[in-house]
Amino acid sequence: MRAPLVELNSGQVHVWTASLSQAKCEIKELAEVLSPDERSRANRFLFDRDRERFTIARGVLRRLLAQYADLSPEHLQFRYGKHGKPRLDADDTTALEFNLSHAGDWAVYALTTECPVGIDIEQIRPANKYHRLKLARRFFSESEFITLAAQPETNVERAFFACWTRKEAYIKLHGRGLSLPLARFSVNVEPDDPARLMATPWLPEDLGLTQMHDLPVVAGYRAALALSMNDCPMIRRFDWPTDFRDQMTLG
Ligand SMILES: CC(C)(COP(=O)(O)OP(=O)(O)OC[C@H]1O[C@@H](n2cnc3c(N)ncnc32)[C@H](O)[C@@H]1OP(=O)(O)O)[C@@H](O)C(=O)NCCC(=O)NCCS
Repeated sequence: MRAPLVELNSGQVHVWTASLSQAKCEIKELAEVLSPDERSRANRFLFDRDRERFTIARGVLRRLLAQYADLSPEHLQFRYGKHGKPRLDADDTTALEFNLSHAGDWAVYALTTECPVGIDIEQIRPANKYHRLKLARRFFSESEFITLAAQPETNVERAFFACWTRKEAYIKLHGRGLSLPLARFSVNVEPDDPARLMATPWLPEDLGLTQMHDLPVVAGYRAALALSMNDCPMIRRFDWPTDFRDQMTLG
C-alpha cells in the first residue's frame, strides 16, 4: 500500500492550485490516466487550448485523488450528479469529497472527508461599472445588486468577482448548477470582508450550516470555497506540481 500523499484529517480541507500552462509539459502522462469517456469528451473540444486545459485539469484531479484514496489514477471511477457534479464512485471511497474549478491558466481543487464542498475560480476581465451592473442585475440577488451598485467605481471589479465566486462556490457545493436560482440566495459582496452566506430563502436551514472562504490566488483571478459544515475548517494549501513531487519523494 502506498503512503497517502498528505494526511487529510477531520476538520481539514486541502486546497490545491495548479498552473495549467506549467503542467502542460506533463500532458502526455496526464492524458494516459483519463477514462475513455473523458478522452472522448476531450476530443469533442473545438479548440486545442480547451482540450489541453480539460485534459490537464482532469489528469491532475485523478493523480491527486489517487494519492488520497490510495488507488491508481486510471482506475478511479466517477459518477455524476443530476447536474454534472462528479463524485468518486462508492466502490472507490465514499468518504472523500472534492470539487474543482478552472479558469484561464489556473485550476483549483478542494478535497475533504468532512462534508460536500464547492470551489470556484474566475479570471478577472476588466469591464466598466455599467457592464458589471448589467450582469449583476441578471445573476445576483436584489440585495447583492444594491450593494454592488453602491460600491465606488474603483471597487466594483473586485466586488463583482468576490460576489460571483462566492455564489458559484455555493451552487457547486450543492451540485445544483443553474437549477438553483441565483437570486434565491445571497452572499456578501464587499471584497475585503470575510466571505459569508447572508440569506438562503430557498433552504433557510442552510444558513447556519455553510462555511464560506475567499482563497488567495494569483493577481488577475479570484477564488472562493464553500462547505457544508458548522465549524470553521482548517484550510491547508498546496501547489501542483511542487508539493506533489515533494510528497512523492518523501512517501
Ligand atoms: C457547470 C457549473 C458547475 C460551473 O461551471 P463553470 O464555472 O463554467 O466551471 P468551473 O471551472 O468552475 O467548474 C467546472 C468543474 O466543476 C465540476 N462540476 C460540473 N458540474 C458540477 C455541478 N453541477 N456542481 C458542482 N461541480 C460541478 C466538474 O468537475 C467541472 O470540471 P470539468 O470541466 O473537468 O468537468 C455551473 O455552476 C454553471 O453552469 N455555472 C454557470 C456560471 C454562471 O452563470 N454563474 C453565475 C454566478 S453568479
